[in-house]
Amino acid sequence: MRIAFISDIHGNFTAFQAVLADINSQNVDQIVCLGDVVTMGPQPVEVLNKLKNMDCLFIKGNHDAAVLNPEIAGQYEITHYLIPDLHWCRDQLSSDDLKFIDSFKPTQEIQLPNGVNILAFHGSPLSPIDIIQSTTPVETLDVYFEKETADIFIGGHSHIQMQRRYGDKFILNSGSVGNVFKFVYTPGTVPSLLPWAEYMIVSQSENSISMDSRRVYFDTDTLLQKVRESSLPGADWWLRQYSK
Ligand SMILES: [Fe+2]
Ligand SMILES: [Fe+2]
Repeated sequence: MRIAFISDIHGNFTAFQAVLADINSQNVDQIVCLGDVVTMGPQPVEVLNKLKNMDCLFIKGNHDAAVLNPEIAGQYEITHYLIPDLHWCRDQLSSDDLKFIDSFKPTQEIQLPNGVNILAFHGSPLSPIDIIQSTTPVETLDVYFEKETADIFIGGHSHIQMQRRYGDKFILNSGSVGNVFKFVYTPGTVPSLLPWAEYMIVSQSENSISMDSRRVYFDTDTLLQKVRESSLPGADWWLRQYSK
């Protein structure tokens, strides 16, 4: 059994296509999308149209919740300078698109054939705005996972890939497809992006489990061209990224 976890596409259709091509070469049985699908990038509609036609489990990220309710975006920790992008994104979407996003679940459970359980979420099982890092204190993890019995936890939201042991559990982050942060985001700073896409494959064979943190290079020039062609308010930020 091989499951691909994709997260934080953020409207970057160029990166998403590169990841889907890689997934197609990887003999995957299931795809799980961990949220933050459309906002910030130049092609939210293309991303959604692709996702709608995929056999995939969906988790609702904080940006997904915010695009559904832009008037309370602050509650989903959408930084003030991203608010114009949030509204631009919503303006591109049909009521059908919004209904599709609203069908996403806060968490999803997946049982592997050998009985190992996976719990998928966006930030933590408690909230899409919790950020779990390699440095998050165990006491904080105890709060997030107190009620959970799964063996493997996987989320997105931090935009940084991670594989971390936590007692007899694993905590994983599949990274971001469309918005790979160079460093962990801290409020008051503006993140820089790395020129690739990230996702993860969890594989189970008879008596083993493995996690493959994958990095997929995509054509950043094509993406930046899409940004230039769009009327995205945050275009300038994108155009400052990926400098060699
Ligand atoms: Fe995100
Ligand atoms: Fe997020």
